[in-house]
Amino acid sequence: MSTAKESTKRVTVTELARMKSEGEKISMLTAYDYTMATIIDRAGTDILLVGDSAANVMAGWDTTIPITVDHMIYHAASVKRAAKRAMVVVDMPFGSYQGNSIEAINSAVKIMKETSADALKLEGGVEIMESIERILSAGIPVMGHLGLTPQSINKFGGYSIRAKEDKEADRLISDALALEKAGVFAIVLEKIPATLAQKATNNLSIPTIGIGAGNKTDGQVLVIQDMLGMNQSFSPKFLRRYHNLHEEISGAVKNYINDVKSSDFPNEKEQY
Ligand code: KIV
Repeated sequence: MSTAKESTKRVTVTELARMKSEGEKISMLTAYDYTMATIIDRAGTDILLVGDSAANVMAGWDTTIPITVDHMIYHAASVKRAAKRAMVVVDMPFGSYQGNSIEAINSAVKIMKETSADALKLEGGVEIMESIERILSAGIPVMGHLGLTPQSINKFGGYSIRAKEDKEADRLISDALALEKAGVFAIVLEKIPATLAQKATNNLSIPTIGIGAGNKTDGQVLVIQDMLGMNQSFSPKFLRRYHNLHEEISGAVKNYINDVKSSDFPNEKEQY
């Protein structure tokens, strides 16, 4: 059984490949700020994903579409300053790579230079292959993302499970194989049937990291605010809540308000 690592040897693409070949599961969590990233890194998470889900959980947007390259850079640089062991992967935001491969490489280089991140993540398969190849040819490691790709939410018309039908499932497998052939080091599989995620995982030599894709993928990822129970309104079937931080924080804030109102805070020991 694998457990959280305490050593500070940095997680690299080679280490992730070793983990897949030895059947050691990969843990990935999102992070968007220095303080939280420090806690998650020291706890032993293998990968810190600076997800464009920052648009939802940090900025309150309904979709990930509004977040910009500069917003992502702010979050990613904060996370990278915290990471001692975990690999830091940054989402390329909507509009920064889909246009053409020149736009993609320019965005990728800007993110890498201004954050010192370890790798980038792009949503999509063969339709963005030229951009992926260009970024890879600059020596930047790329993580793929297939299945439910939130940047295409307006095309899908909602966040329901993807690739239930054979045609879309076959397309997902051929996209995954094409990404592997291009040199991508891992692929996120989001909200697809567990059997399809297992098939993709068995057919690939690179690791798969699932979210809502069953437990046969090589690793798992969750959004940190969701798994800590900070957001009460988001309860998809795949989410396991490890804490009820919403209640804990709310309780602490209420205690603080009461202490201020009753002049209990600060007391004599808490003043100069
Ligand atoms: O942005 C994000 O948080 C993600 C994960 C859900 C995989 O892409």
